[in-house]
Amino acid sequence: MKFFVDTANIDDIRDLAATGLLDGVTTNPSLVAKSGRPFADVVRDICAAVPGPVSAEVTATDHAGMVKEGRILAAIAPNVVVKVPLTWDGLKACKTLRDGGIGVNVTLCFSANQALLAAKAGASFISPFVGRLDDISQDGMQLIRDIRQIYDNYPHLKTEILVASIRHATHVLESALIGADVVTVPPDVLRKLAQHPLTDKGLDAFLADWRKSGLKMPGAA
Ligand code: G3P
Repeated sequence: MKFFVDTANIDDIRDLAATGLLDGVTTNPSLVAKSGRPFADVVRDICAAVPGPVSAEVTATDHAGMVKEGRILAAIAPNVVVKVPLTWDGLKACKTLRDGGIGVNVTLCFSANQALLAAKAGASFISPFVGRLDDISQDGMQLIRDIRQIYDNYPHLKTEILVASIRHATHVLESALIGADVVTVPPDVLRKLAQHPLTDKGLDAFLADWRKSGLKMPGAA
């Protein structure tokens, strides 16, 4: 499973990219607005920091406008993936952009039927928002199970399931168990994935015993 980070904060992105574990980045208009920086500069900096797919979302809502904005975004860097919302105009723009060889991430997906249409439109990625479904007491991860089953029924569909709107580590675990292709994770959640109290406790005990032994590591002064 690929790990993307869901942010437009370049400091967080550079910090996490340094681990070598980051496969891509997703942004959205709210995250870019939060950065307070010119959109093109944000996209350019992120694409330079992470070689993998970087999602940049259009703000037009009509087909022609989405295509025009998408082509401008795609021209910023070769690893830009254009994000379009899951509307009829978004699906039409997805088809047009994909026919032109531009990667497309169809976002704001909340049903399996929507995901099926996005795959038929040739989407590179589909972004089902699991957290926002959970927020209204629906089962976000069931949507991922349904999409996985549907896509697996039709091997000619090449769209990757990019689980989005992730709120906690269990969303990541369940996405991997289901077989999602990608998770896009907020920076703070991503950092928590490596943490476990028993790891910390065990390491402290190892190092305490080592210090008491008076032994030295090979090469140590
Ligand atoms: O960026 C797309 C998605 O991950 C946003 O999720 O619900 O935390 O705004 P959310």
